[in-house]
Amino acid sequence: MADGVNVPKNIVLIGFMGCGKSTVGRELQQRLGYPLIDMDSMIEQRAGKPITALFAELGEPAFRDMETQLLEELCDPEAPRRIISTGGGVIVRPQNRSLLRQLGYVVWLQAPVGTILDRTSRNRDRPLLHTEDPRARIEALLQERMPWYRESAHLALDTRGLDSGEICTGILESARYFFTGHA
Ligand code: S3P
Repeated sequence: MADGVNVPKNIVLIGFMGCGKSTVGRELQQRLGYPLIDMDSMIEQRAGKPITALFAELGEPAFRDMETQLLEELCDPEAPRRIISTGGGVIVRPQNRSLLRQLGYVVWLQAPVGTILDRTSRNRDRPLLHTEDPRARIEALLQERMPWYRESAHLALDTRGLDSGEICTGILESARYFFTGHA
């Protein structure tokens, strides 16, 4: 039997900054009526400060600790079905990659570098891209993280040319196969 039958029926969105996780997460929430957990927002709420301040004051490792802690809490088998939207760097830690796979059906949203650059340059919310050359930073981080996204994901979805409705339809169809053991 495929492992999908024994996995909690959550949908977990992973992918680089600016790949559309939050938008797709909101649309999935509307379609399914499941609660949406946006990990970045939850961490900000708990810390009482935005991620940029968290990085500046406590450093990236402290932020990564908060991500791991939250993932562990989300792995509660008693919890109702949810949509979980992660931060782009959640896959950096091996422990997180294994937690993600225990959490539900993991969908990796992919977008071209130009799209990522365009979306992320609209605000200053991403401390890792506060550099002279954000495009070079995006390319380097993508290169480094690619194997980790691949390792974590049940489904890789190239979002190029698709609107969020089409992306959600693709996710829901493949999730149904996964959870019924046909994947
Ligand atoms: C990060 C991505 C961000 C946020 C933080 C670090 C990363 O989330 O968690 O700035 O390491 O890629 P988004 O992917 O939602 O922008």
